[in-house]
Amino acid sequence: MLYKRTHMCGDLRIDDVGKEVVLNGWVAKARNFGSLVFIDIRDKTGITQVTINDDVTEEVLEKANQLRSEYCIGIKGRVCERSSKNNNIPTGDIEIFANDIIIYSESLTPPIYIKDDDNVDENLRLKYRYLDLRKGKMQRNLMMRYAVVKCARDYFDKQGFTEIETPMLIKPTPEGARDYIVPSRIHPGFFYALPQSPQMFKQLLMVSGVDRYFQVVKCFRDEDLRADRQPEFTQIDLEMSFASEDDVIEIQEGFLKKLMKEVKDIDITIPFPRITYAEAMERFGSDKPDTRFDIELMKLNDIFVDCPFEVFNKVLSEGGDIRGICVPGGASEFSRKKIDKLIEDIKHYGAGGLVWIKNDSGNISSSVGKFFNEEELKSILEKCGAENSDIVFIVSGKTKVTYDALGFLRKRVAELLGLIDSNKYNFLWVVNFPMFEKDEDGRIKAMHHPFTQPNLTELYKLDSDLLGLNANAYDIVLNGVELGGGSVRIHNNDLQTKMFKALGLSEEECYDKFGFLIEAFKYGAPPHAGLAYGLDRLVMLLLGEKSIREVIAFPKNQNAECPVSEAPAKPSDDQLQELGIEILADINNDKAQ
Ligand code: AMO
Repeated sequence: MLYKRTHMCGDLRIDDVGKEVVLNGWVAKARNFGSLVFIDIRDKTGITQVTINDDVTEEVLEKANQLRSEYCIGIKGRVCERSSKNNNIPTGDIEIFANDIIIYSESLTPPIYIKDDDNVDENLRLKYRYLDLRKGKMQRNLMMRYAVVKCARDYFDKQGFTEIETPMLIKPTPEGARDYIVPSRIHPGFFYALPQSPQMFKQLLMVSGVDRYFQVVKCFRDEDLRADRQPEFTQIDLEMSFASEDDVIEIQEGFLKKLMKEVKDIDITIPFPRITYAEAMERFGSDKPDTRFDIELMKLNDIFVDCPFEVFNKVLSEGGDIRGICVPGGASEFSRKKIDKLIEDIKHYGAGGLVWIKNDSGNISSSVGKFFNEEELKSILEKCGAENSDIVFIVSGKTKVTYDALGFLRKRVAELLGLIDSNKYNFLWVVNFPMFEKDEDGRIKAMHHPFTQPNLTELYKLDSDLLGLNANAYDIVLNGVELGGGSVRIHNNDLQTKMFKALGLSEEECYDKFGFLIEAFKYGAPPHAGLAYGLDRLVMLLLGEKSIREVIAFPKNQNAECPVSEAPAKPSDDQLQELGIEILADINNDKAQ
């Protein structure tokens, strides 16, 4: 039997008093006093209190007495005004006096509490994700995700974009991460890759005359996991023909403005600020700066030329840099113990140490007090703009180390001092990225991807100054998180071939990897540009969550495993044989042990 419900559990209000209603849901709480039973019934919209007293038949009372947490039930009854109201829930003015109950299915004692702030171990939550998702917060997160996707579809549809699916089984892509590969049964020994993004296919769609493409699409990258990285994640992916960087940016600002209004009821100002990559690094030590607080990096090389502190002299003579930040009000906050912790943290960014100078109500002290007298320390503080009660932190080393360490430090100290307003949404564009960078092994690689158009006035640098060549690439950043990235693309084969060459690829390798795109570009490729958002990150930020796992229904854990289904798993011997795959006996595999 199935009750046809009349209302959702979270929807009933005082105006509904007197109505006969039917609710279906789960038992959130059962309090049993024999001839009087109180139940909280829950569905995705919230909970309602249900009272069963001895006005009902003995059979119904008996059923009420059997109810336990997470039983799936239906109830019929009349809405009544509560004598003692509960202001903490929207349905707190009413309760339902039940006259009939149906138990659809019983439940074992749940291994996790269905409570928003249960603080339970995340792996247990992920293993029983279907129970975890019953929580009000998780239901709201899923609904927000859907609201964002719906808003994107509505907006881009109105702007003339067509949603088109691209293949999931493709040739390995040239993007930064490792591919997930899938063996082919029909071609034993050959493999597909799962797409890291639909990059090349969306460019082919521009050659096809689609003009404006978009897709909400799964992407796969086998990379080290972090709070904002998953092996499979979702992009809102776009591409536009006959579009410049400004055209893409304008369309995206329209989308983000509509989104913020629709899902957060916040009016944001567009256009967003645009800063170059070089400026972002120089001012914030990061290409995804959080601009919600005022601390900025300062280059201090000039102050320390020929200074008595040997470490700084050495760094400068080796072509390195000295940079610092001034933390307002930080003098009393940062004890030696707290500074030691910061030093530990910045070591991860390659920093050898952290110099500090503070002015604690006129009391000057410093970690380099042995090398500088009080007058000199005062003068350094002054040059850094430090006032009474401020502390200056200084890092020296390779340019990148000073950026990375201080980029981290400015955020960390702002968090510790409570300088970040969590109600602010600071969007900004970072533009004019370098075209190339060196990887850890010193090899040249594309900073975005090799289809990005270099700055056309700087093409001469392709022969002489690869690392000085800039690209028509842009990232959209929100509150210190890279939400999305894109670029104007190369649509000319000669230039594309030059780019591949700069990356050290032979003509043969180019054809092997990207032959189909190179071929397509021979048939009238339009100028085009695009961008992709990380949907998971966007939803995470809108909800103020700290991890994208909170906004994905069934995320992978930190070990790239799906705790619900226990993927990855070993295929059967038959499957392996059919695919012509043999697993090495001595393969190092924790999961198999
Ligand atoms: P990019 O590699 O910058 O660009 O990716 C676009 C956005 O996708 C999100 N993202 C991720 N989110 C969660 N987990 C991950 N592992 C992960 N990796 C990336 C980020 C990022 O900004 N094809 C290009 C786009 C283009 O040029 O049009 C691309 O994929 O939010």
